[in-house]
Amino acid sequence: MRQHVNPLSINFNQIERIPSLREMFRDSTLNLHLDIGCAAGDFLFDLALVNTSWNYLGIEIREKLVKNAKLKVLEKEVKNLYFVFGNANNILNDVQSKFIFKNLKSISFNFPDPWFKKRHNKRRVIQPRFINTLSNSLQKGTLIFIKTDVKDLFDHMDCTISSNFYFKTIEKKDFNYSKSFNPDKVKTNREKYVIANQLDIFERIYIKI
Ligand SMILES: C[S@@+](CC[C@H](N)C(=O)[O-])C[C@H]1O[C@@H](n2cnc3c(N)ncnc32)[C@H](O)[C@@H]1O
Repeated sequence: MRQHVNPLSINFNQIERIPSLREMFRDSTLNLHLDIGCAAGDFLFDLALVNTSWNYLGIEIREKLVKNAKLKVLEKEVKNLYFVFGNANNILNDVQSKFIFKNLKSISFNFPDPWFKKRHNKRRVIQPRFINTLSNSLQKGTLIFIKTDVKDLFDHMDCTISSNFYFKTIEKKDFNYSKSFNPDKVKTNREKYVIANQLDIFERIYIKI
């Protein structure tokens, strides 16, 4: 399995259309959470199997992982979980994806990038244009969660989001997780690794105003 793929490759210019909510989920009226860079989707399976009053959507750029995750959804008959393959930037900047923003309650970027070097800035998933798209399209009150173990990447994501007038930081200590997409504070695979290795975690929550 390839560890990294270049999101700027022309291979990702052709995007997978996000199906309608009715095609993706048994109950399309449930709250919707989007996880960007969901890898094999383990985190989303853990959430979807327990929190059946939420729908979960994952976007991942490594095709094999998405294929396997889709098979697992069918095998386990999970009706509140869906995976889309591609570069999240290309998919969500596309006009065909606009409908998804109206229904989103929250988005997570968990340890999203392997692109640490400054010269690879443009490969990082959080880009000014992308944040601009989100600020123009998300409903007021939609939450964005970012989490990483790399301080430079955190600063880059935080600076890009905070520079946008329509996103305000929420203090983590004031945040009530019980009503969120992740009431039990389930951890992603990368997060478990980071904790086991006693590395730092940098995280922030924003709300669209
Ligand atoms: C370090 S892994 C973290 C996986 C998982 N979120 C976790 O916390 O365990 C980052 C994931 O983001 C994916 N990714 C990176 N850039 C992406 C992009 N532009 N669009 C979609 N997925 C992306 C990578 O392929 C990889 O699976």
